[in-house]
Amino acid sequence: MTMTEQQADREPVTEPEPLLELVDVRAGYGAIEVLHGVNLALKPGSLLALLGPNGGGKSTTMRVCAGLHPITGGELRYAGRTVNGISAQDAARLGVCSIPEGRGIFPNLTVRENLWVATGTGATLAELEEKAYSRFPVLGRRRNQLAGSMSGGEQQMLALSRALATDPAVLLLDELSMGLAPMIVSQMYQTVAELVAGGLSVLVAEQFARAVLPIADSAALMLHGRVVATGTPEEIEARLADDYLGG
Ligand SMILES: Nc1ncnc2c1ncn2[C@@H]1O[C@H](COP(=O)(O)OP(=O)(O)O)[C@@H](O)[C@H]1O
Ligand SMILES: [Mg+2]
Repeated sequence: MTMTEQQADREPVTEPEPLLELVDVRAGYGAIEVLHGVNLALKPGSLLALLGPNGGGKSTTMRVCAGLHPITGGELRYAGRTVNGISAQDAARLGVCSIPEGRGIFPNLTVRENLWVATGTGATLAELEEKAYSRFPVLGRRRNQLAGSMSGGEQQMLALSRALATDPAVLLLDELSMGLAPMIVSQMYQTVAELVAGGLSVLVAEQFARAVLPIADSAALMLHGRVVATGTPEEIEARLADDYLGG
């Protein structure tokens, strides 16, 4: 049975429980609070775009979701369970995987070596290479090249390949588009859309809304450490025009 047939069979009786949820989350750096009660819910198998200008708190929110940053108030929930204080390792074990702003690859290792580092999660290097090179053939051609010497788009493909090595349930992408040519950005988001169609749940933080809105299922607008609006991509796009120029 194909995905579409399965979905057609199933009547959506109730809203599915969010896979990842932030309820009134507060967090900061030292004495300075930067998240002032953030509410956000990522539904399974969907893409949620977290939009807003620089400094609004998107990256902090992403780090909170990945267990990389402590919260000082509210609740972080995974599949309905409160997981406040979870470590990054435990978040990863629950299936949460993140690509940080700046991609988080090893520039002084080759493409192959970068994939090899990701084998710690159980898959063999051969399996990871097979998956990565069939998804992004250019990575296969660059397998022995230092990651830092590749183009921004190729580095982002490598970052995505590494992230997918863990077979995550939730993927957190922070500023995927940063420093990339528009055509590469839409190519990357096309790949992300395919992953979502395959069941992955994705939270994307983007300063430049235009890149991600076309493939998003829902969107949230973050300003000054608060989510001030959530809705369909169309609704949020209209808000963006009012509140700031979202690219
Ligand atoms: N490591 C840090 N130390 C102190 N303040 C930080 C740090 N990282 C971010 N901030 C502050 O937190 C706020 C939110 O930043 P951030 O989460 O990076 O927002 P965004 O990703 O939307 O640009 C900003 O005011 C920023 O200056
Ligand atoms: Mg950021």
